[in-house]
Amino acid sequence: MHKSVQDILKKKKEKKKISVITSYDYTLASLCDKAGIDVLLVGDSAGMVMLGYENTIPVTMEQMCMFTEAVSNARNNALLVSDLPFMSYQVSVEDAVKNSGRLIKAGADAVKLEGGSIMVETISAIVDVGIPVMGHIGLQPQTTMLSQGYKVQGKTKDSAMKLIQDAKELEEAGVFSIALEMVSHQVAKIISESVNVPTIGIGSGVNCDGQVLVVQDLLGMYDKIKPKFAKRYMNLSEDIVNSLGNYKKDVESGTFPAEENWFSMDEDELKKLREHIDK
Ligand code: KIV
Repeated sequence: MHKSVQDILKKKKEKKKISVITSYDYTLASLCDKAGIDVLLVGDSAGMVMLGYENTIPVTMEQMCMFTEAVSNARNNALLVSDLPFMSYQVSVEDAVKNSGRLIKAGADAVKLEGGSIMVETISAIVDVGIPVMGHIGLQPQTTMLSQGYKVQGKTKDSAMKLIQDAKELEEAGVFSIALEMVSHQVAKIISESVNVPTIGIGSGVNCDGQVLVVQDLLGMYDKIKPKFAKRYMNLSEDIVNSLGNYKKDVESGTFPAEENWFSMDEDELKKLREHIDK
Protein backbone atom coordinates (compact mmCIF):
# COMPACT_ATOMS: atom_id res chain seq x y z
CA MET A 1 0.00 0.00 0.00
CA HIS A 2 1.34 3.43 -0.87
CA LYS A 3 1.36 6.36 1.57
CA SER A 4 -1.86 8.27 2.15
CA VAL A 5 -2.62 11.89 2.98
CA GLN A 6 -3.23 10.69 6.57
CA ASP A 7 0.34 9.29 6.72
CA ILE A 8 1.70 12.69 5.70
CA LEU A 9 -0.41 14.52 8.31
CA LYS A 10 0.72 12.00 10.94
CA LYS A 11 4.36 12.82 10.23
CA LYS A 12 3.83 16.41 11.34
CA LYS A 13 2.08 15.27 14.53
CA GLU A 14 5.01 12.95 15.27
CA LYS A 15 7.49 15.74 14.41
CA LYS A 16 9.00 13.63 11.62
CA LYS A 17 10.24 15.49 8.54
CA ILE A 18 8.60 14.86 5.16
CA SER A 19 10.66 14.28 2.00
CA VAL A 20 9.17 15.40 -1.32
CA ILE A 21 10.78 15.22 -4.76
CA THR A 22 9.46 16.13 -8.18
CA SER A 23 8.97 13.29 -10.68
CA TYR A 24 7.76 13.30 -14.26
CA ASP A 25 8.80 10.03 -15.92
CA TYR A 26 8.64 6.30 -15.18
CA THR A 27 12.37 5.58 -14.89
CA LEU A 28 13.37 8.34 -12.45
CA ALA A 29 10.10 8.07 -10.51
CA SER A 30 10.81 4.35 -9.90
CA LEU A 31 14.16 5.27 -8.37
CA CYS A 32 12.68 8.09 -6.23
CA ASP A 33 10.00 5.68 -4.99
CA LYS A 34 12.57 2.95 -4.28
CA ALA A 35 14.59 5.47 -2.24
CA GLY A 36 11.62 5.79 0.12
CA ILE A 37 10.74 9.43 -0.62
CA ASP A 38 7.39 10.26 1.05
CA VAL A 39 5.76 12.28 -1.74
CA LEU A 40 6.33 12.30 -5.50
CA LEU A 41 5.24 15.67 -6.89
CA VAL A 42 4.44 15.84 -10.59
CA GLY A 43 5.26 19.54 -10.64
CA ASP A 44 4.52 21.90 -13.50
CA SER A 45 8.27 22.56 -13.35
CA ALA A 46 8.07 19.75 -15.93
CA GLY A 47 7.58 22.62 -18.38
CA MET A 48 11.19 23.65 -17.84
CA VAL A 49 13.07 20.47 -16.99
CA MET A 50 11.18 18.06 -19.28
CA LEU A 51 9.87 20.25 -22.09
CA GLY A 52 12.47 23.04 -22.26
CA TYR A 53 10.08 26.00 -21.82
CA GLU A 54 11.32 29.21 -20.16
CA ASN A 55 8.71 28.92 -17.40
CA THR A 56 5.65 26.94 -16.29
CA ILE A 57 3.07 29.06 -18.15
CA PRO A 58 2.73 26.97 -21.36
CA VAL A 59 2.16 23.67 -19.51
CA THR A 60 -1.17 22.01 -20.42
CA MET A 61 -3.55 19.60 -18.69
CA GLU A 62 -2.77 16.98 -21.35
CA GLN A 63 0.95 17.17 -20.53
CA MET A 64 0.32 17.01 -16.77
CA CYS A 65 -1.95 13.97 -17.24
CA MET A 66 0.74 12.22 -19.28
CA PHE A 67 3.47 12.89 -16.70
CA THR A 68 1.10 11.83 -13.91
CA GLU A 69 0.34 8.52 -15.66
CA ALA A 70 4.04 7.77 -16.09
CA VAL A 71 4.79 8.47 -12.41
CA SER A 72 1.73 6.55 -11.29
CA ASN A 73 2.96 3.49 -13.22
CA ALA A 74 6.23 3.72 -11.26
CA ARG A 75 5.23 4.37 -7.68
CA ASN A 76 4.61 1.72 -5.06
CA ASN A 77 5.24 3.55 -1.78
CA ALA A 78 4.97 7.33 -2.07
CA LEU A 79 1.95 9.63 -2.11
CA LEU A 80 1.48 11.09 -5.60
CA VAL A 81 0.58 14.79 -5.89
CA SER A 82 0.12 16.51 -9.28
CA ASP A 83 0.16 20.21 -10.11
CA LEU A 84 -2.81 21.89 -11.72
CA PRO A 85 -1.18 23.90 -14.54
CA PHE A 86 -1.69 27.60 -15.30
CA MET A 87 -5.28 28.43 -16.32
CA SER A 88 -6.63 24.98 -15.45
CA TYR A 89 -8.17 26.27 -12.18
CA GLN A 90 -8.13 30.09 -12.24
CA VAL A 91 -11.05 30.73 -14.62
CA SER A 92 -13.81 28.93 -12.73
CA VAL A 93 -14.39 26.64 -9.78
CA GLU A 94 -16.02 24.16 -12.22
CA ASP A 95 -12.81 24.02 -14.29
CA ALA A 96 -10.79 23.50 -11.13
CA VAL A 97 -12.91 20.57 -9.95
CA LYS A 98 -13.07 19.00 -13.44
CA ASN A 99 -9.32 19.31 -14.02
CA SER A 100 -8.50 18.01 -10.53
CA GLY A 101 -10.61 14.97 -11.41
CA ARG A 102 -8.60 14.47 -14.61
CA LEU A 103 -5.34 14.35 -12.65
CA ILE A 104 -6.86 11.89 -10.16
CA LYS A 105 -8.05 9.67 -13.04
CA ALA A 106 -4.50 9.83 -14.44
CA GLY A 107 -3.19 8.37 -11.17
CA ALA A 108 -2.65 11.25 -8.70
CA ASP A 109 -3.78 10.95 -5.07
CA ALA A 110 -3.98 14.72 -4.60
CA VAL A 111 -3.54 17.97 -6.53
CA LYS A 112 -1.52 21.11 -5.85
CA LEU A 113 -2.46 24.64 -6.83
CA GLU A 114 -0.90 28.05 -6.32
CA GLY A 115 -2.49 30.96 -4.47
CA GLY A 116 -3.45 32.25 -1.04
CA SER A 117 -6.81 33.58 0.20
CA ILE A 118 -7.99 34.15 -3.38
CA MET A 119 -8.10 30.36 -3.88
CA VAL A 120 -10.16 29.50 -0.80
CA GLU A 121 -13.45 28.91 -2.64
CA THR A 122 -11.73 26.82 -5.32
CA ILE A 123 -9.88 24.69 -2.76
CA SER A 124 -13.06 24.06 -0.73
CA ALA A 125 -14.90 22.94 -3.87
CA ILE A 126 -12.13 20.47 -4.83
CA VAL A 127 -11.89 19.14 -1.26
CA ASP A 128 -15.70 18.83 -1.13
CA VAL A 129 -15.69 16.31 -3.99
CA GLY A 130 -13.13 14.24 -2.06
CA ILE A 131 -9.88 15.32 -3.73
CA PRO A 132 -7.06 16.25 -1.32
CA VAL A 133 -5.35 19.57 -2.10
CA MET A 134 -1.84 20.84 -1.36
CA GLY A 135 -1.67 24.65 -1.29
CA HIS A 136 1.31 26.65 -2.60
CA ILE A 137 2.18 30.15 -1.38
CA GLY A 138 5.24 32.39 -1.32
CA LEU A 139 6.81 32.56 -4.76
CA GLN A 140 4.12 31.35 -7.15
CA PRO A 141 5.79 30.69 -10.50
CA GLN A 142 2.44 30.84 -12.39
CA THR A 143 1.72 34.42 -11.23
CA THR A 144 4.22 36.23 -9.01
CA MET A 145 6.95 35.17 -11.45
CA LEU A 146 5.19 37.09 -14.21
CA SER A 147 5.06 40.35 -12.25
CA GLN A 148 8.04 40.18 -9.89
CA GLY A 149 10.51 37.55 -11.13
CA TYR A 150 12.31 35.22 -8.71
CA LYS A 151 12.08 37.14 -5.42
CA VAL A 152 12.18 35.99 -1.82
CA GLN A 153 8.71 36.42 -0.28
CA GLY A 154 7.86 37.58 3.23
CA LYS A 155 10.73 39.98 3.82
CA THR A 156 8.62 42.82 5.25
CA LYS A 157 6.18 42.79 8.17
CA ASP A 158 3.19 43.37 5.87
CA SER A 159 4.08 40.71 3.32
CA ALA A 160 4.82 38.28 6.17
CA MET A 161 1.41 38.98 7.75
CA LYS A 162 -0.27 38.33 4.40
CA LEU A 163 1.55 34.98 4.02
CA ILE A 164 0.62 33.91 7.55
CA GLN A 165 -3.02 34.87 6.90
CA ASP A 166 -2.98 33.01 3.56
CA ALA A 167 -1.64 29.86 5.23
CA LYS A 168 -4.37 29.99 7.90
CA GLU A 169 -7.09 30.47 5.27
CA LEU A 170 -5.76 27.59 3.18
CA GLU A 171 -5.85 25.37 6.25
CA GLU A 172 -9.44 26.41 6.93
CA ALA A 173 -10.35 25.71 3.29
CA GLY A 174 -9.18 22.13 3.84
CA VAL A 175 -5.69 21.72 2.34
CA PHE A 176 -3.69 18.77 3.71
CA SER A 177 -0.35 20.58 3.32
CA ILE A 178 1.12 23.84 2.07
CA ALA A 179 4.19 24.31 -0.15
CA LEU A 180 6.18 27.41 0.85
CA GLU A 181 8.39 28.58 -2.01
CA MET A 182 11.21 31.05 -1.33
CA VAL A 183 9.71 32.39 1.90
CA SER A 184 12.16 33.96 4.35
CA HIS A 185 13.10 31.26 6.85
CA GLN A 186 11.77 33.20 9.86
CA VAL A 187 8.33 33.58 8.31
CA ALA A 188 8.32 29.93 7.16
CA LYS A 189 8.98 28.94 10.80
CA ILE A 190 6.10 31.12 12.07
CA ILE A 191 3.74 29.65 9.43
CA SER A 192 4.83 26.09 10.26
CA GLU A 193 4.06 26.74 13.92
CA SER A 194 0.74 28.46 13.14
CA VAL A 195 -0.95 25.70 11.11
CA ASN A 196 -1.67 22.05 11.90
CA VAL A 197 -1.07 20.85 8.34
CA PRO A 198 2.51 20.19 7.22
CA THR A 199 4.46 22.90 5.40
CA ILE A 200 6.74 21.74 2.59
CA GLY A 201 9.55 24.20 1.97
CA ILE A 202 11.58 24.97 -1.11
CA GLY A 203 14.09 27.70 -0.39
CA SER A 204 12.27 28.42 2.88
CA GLY A 205 14.65 27.13 5.52
CA VAL A 206 14.95 24.16 7.81
CA ASN A 207 11.93 24.80 10.04
CA CYS A 208 9.34 23.69 7.49
CA ASP A 209 7.79 20.27 8.20
CA GLY A 210 9.20 18.89 4.97
CA GLN A 211 11.34 19.80 1.98
CA VAL A 212 10.84 19.56 -1.77
CA LEU A 213 13.42 19.76 -4.55
CA VAL A 214 13.26 19.41 -8.31
CA VAL A 215 14.86 16.02 -8.99
CA GLN A 216 17.03 17.33 -11.85
CA ASP A 217 18.48 20.00 -9.50
CA LEU A 218 19.31 17.39 -6.86
CA LEU A 219 20.97 15.07 -9.40
CA GLY A 220 22.83 17.87 -11.21
CA MET A 221 21.07 17.30 -14.54
CA TYR A 222 19.67 20.78 -15.30
CA ASP A 223 22.18 23.59 -15.80
CA LYS A 224 19.98 26.43 -17.08
CA ILE A 225 19.16 27.74 -13.59
CA LYS A 226 21.08 26.90 -10.41
CA PRO A 227 18.89 28.12 -7.54
CA LYS A 228 20.69 28.93 -4.27
CA PHE A 229 18.25 26.71 -2.36
CA ALA A 230 18.90 23.55 -4.40
CA LYS A 231 21.51 21.16 -3.05
CA ARG A 232 23.30 19.10 -5.69
CA TYR A 233 23.95 15.58 -4.47
CA MET A 234 25.76 14.58 -7.68
CA ASN A 235 26.82 15.93 -11.04
CA LEU A 236 24.94 13.51 -13.26
CA SER A 237 25.04 15.66 -16.41
CA GLU A 238 28.86 15.38 -16.45
CA ASP A 239 28.68 11.58 -16.05
CA ILE A 240 26.03 11.32 -18.77
CA VAL A 241 27.97 13.46 -21.26
CA ASN A 242 31.20 11.49 -20.55
CA SER A 243 29.42 8.16 -20.96
CA LEU A 244 27.82 9.24 -24.24
CA GLY A 245 31.22 10.45 -25.50
CA ASN A 246 32.68 7.00 -24.67
CA TYR A 247 29.81 5.29 -26.51
CA LYS A 248 30.47 7.44 -29.61
CA LYS A 249 34.18 6.53 -29.49
CA ASP A 250 33.38 2.80 -29.12
CA VAL A 251 30.98 2.90 -32.09
CA GLU A 252 33.54 4.71 -34.23
CA SER A 253 36.40 2.36 -33.28
CA GLY A 254 34.30 -0.81 -33.58
CA THR A 255 34.76 -1.80 -29.91
CA PHE A 256 30.99 -1.68 -29.47
CA PRO A 257 29.16 -3.96 -29.89
CA ALA A 258 31.30 -6.86 -28.65
CA GLU A 259 30.49 -10.58 -28.61
CA GLU A 260 28.53 -10.33 -25.34
CA ASN A 261 26.20 -7.80 -26.98
CA TRP A 262 25.19 -9.76 -30.10
CA PHE A 263 23.22 -12.90 -30.98
CA SER A 264 24.35 -15.98 -32.93
CA MET A 265 22.82 -18.45 -35.32
CA ASP A 266 23.49 -22.18 -34.97
CA GLU A 267 26.62 -23.26 -37.01
CA ASP A 268 24.62 -26.05 -38.77
CA GLU A 269 21.87 -23.61 -39.76
CA LEU A 270 24.49 -21.15 -40.97
CA LYS A 271 26.14 -23.84 -43.10
CA LYS A 272 22.75 -24.69 -44.66
CA LEU A 273 22.13 -21.01 -45.35
CA ARG A 274 25.54 -20.59 -47.03
CA GLU A 275 24.96 -23.68 -49.21
CA HIS A 276 21.55 -22.37 -50.23
CA ILE A 277 22.94 -18.93 -51.15
CA ASP A 278 25.85 -20.48 -53.10
CA LYS A 279 23.50 -22.68 -55.23
O1 KIV B 1 6.44 22.59 -9.99
C1 KIV B 1 7.17 22.34 -9.03
O2 KIV B 1 8.19 21.66 -9.15
C2 KIV B 1 6.79 22.89 -7.74
C3 KIV B 1 7.74 22.74 -6.59
C4 KIV B 1 8.97 23.47 -6.84
C5 KIV B 1 7.11 23.08 -5.30
O3 KIV B 1 5.75 23.45 -7.62
